[in-house]
This record gives sequence, structure tokens and C-alpha cells, in this order.
Amino acid sequence: MKIAICPGSFDPVTLGHLDIIERASGLFDKVIVAVLCNMDKNPNFTVEERMELLRETTAHLSNVEIDSFGGLLVDYAKSKGAVAVVKGLRAVSDFEYEFQMSMINKKLYGELETVYLNTSQDYMYLSSSVVKQIASLGGDISNFVPEAIHAKIVDRLTNM
Ligand code: PNS
Repeated sequence: MKIAICPGSFDPVTLGHLDIIERASGLFDKVIVAVLCNMDKNPNFTVEERMELLRETTAHLSNVEIDSFGGLLVDYAKSKGAVAVVKGLRAVSDFEYEFQMSMINKKLYGELETVYLNTSQDYMYLSSSVVKQIASLGGDISNFVPEAIHAKIVDRLTNM
């Protein structure tokens, strides 16, 4: 069974993330969406909340599991028997950081491949930070986040 990990902060999950997760689920037997839990940043949603939002968002994908991890991604991937990490690339500006991470991960654990999927054109501009900024300033985020969790996200971000 070919297992892939989609790691990230997912604070919160966006339609851009969902697009990558759906496409990864078509390429691999099983996809584990793994929420990073030792973030330096100040998250708006707890790890549990982010996992719950992801569960609701991916309920239609039977080969997708939601989990969290701390420490090194390669150690987590090894513990899950994963063959690949799948990430979305939005623009050239993402490339340098992603390239560095994939090179380091390859040095740490040579059997793990990093697979990049080009973000669909509709989501090239999208990030969790942009969504948070728009929602907290009263803007409409319905084109940016999954419909099933829209209300929860708006509720949290407008009541901070
Ligand atoms: O959504 P993000 O914040 O871009 O996700 C970044 C993530 C979680 C993929 C990255 O920070 C990560 O893999 N962190 C785990 C720590 C690690 O393995 N670091 C070494 C690779 S540079």
C-alpha cells in the first residue's frame, strides 16, 4: 500500500489545501493529512479544532485520514510507513523554501520522496493567512474555504 503524507499547519484548512488533498487521494492508496502541533506561530485554531475542520472537509474521501504530529516530518513519515510527502506549490515564491525542505528531508531519510502538485489556478493566491485577514476584517471568505466549515471559521475569526 502506497501511503502519502500531506503535512501542514492548516490554520485553518482552505479550498487550496482541499484541492491538493483530493488530488493526492487519487494518486495514493492512503493519504494522511498531518497537522503540525509544535508550531512557533500563534495559531487561531487548536490542533484538535484544525483536525476536526479537516475531518469535516475530507469526509467524502474514504482513503484520507487526519492525524497530528510533532518533531521531524521524516520521523513521522517513517513511523507511518509513508513513501511520499505531498505538497502544493502555488508560485515561484514557494519554491525556494519547499526545495530546501525537500533536500533536507531527503538527506535525513533517503527513502521518502517529496511530490509537488501545482496548485490549481483558482487557488494560486490563497493562503490561510489571507483567509484569516479577510475574515477578521469582515470580508467574505466563501470562495476560499470549504462550505461545510465556513460558518465555524467565520465565527472564530470574527470573535477574537
Ligand atoms: O503549512 P506549513 O506551515 O507550510 O507546513 C510546514 C511543515 C509542517 C510541512 C514543516 O514545517 C515541517 O515539516 N515541519 C516539521 C519539522 C521538520 O521536519 N523540519 C525539518 C524539515 S526543514
